[in-house]
Amino acid sequence: MSYVVTEGCILCKHTDCVAVCPVNCFHEGPNFLAINPDECIDCGLCEPECPLDAIVPEDSLKPEQLQFRTLNRELSQRWPIIDKSKGQLPDAERWAQAEHKLQFLER
Ligand code: SF4
Ligand code: F3S
Repeated sequence: MSYVVTEGCILCKHTDCVAVCPVNCFHEGPNFLAINPDECIDCGLCEPECPLDAIVPEDSLKPEQLQFRTLNRELSQRWPIIDKSKGQLPDAERWAQAEHKLQFLER
């Protein structure tokens, strides 16, 4: 099993999560992070670090979040590793409570 980054991260990208990952399996895109499911050791350390609760264990994904399992796998293959926090995106506060952010995901 893996943990999965979900919609809440889009346009916010706080990056607090990456600092605690013992296997550096976070990958960074322009406005979202993705976890490599083949590298994640299911430790759960990252989950409480996200202020938006955007990181979810694979077996707890809601039906509408299932597409993020595929997205994390796909995007983590092509994006570079991020292993240090670098602060949130400039408009993170504005987007924190927004819904339907998937349309804004930049690849
Ligand atoms: Fe990294 Fe653990 Fe989070 Fe997986 S669950 S992404 S190994 S911190
Ligand atoms: Fe995204 Fe939360 Fe990490 S907003 S970058 S999953 S701390």
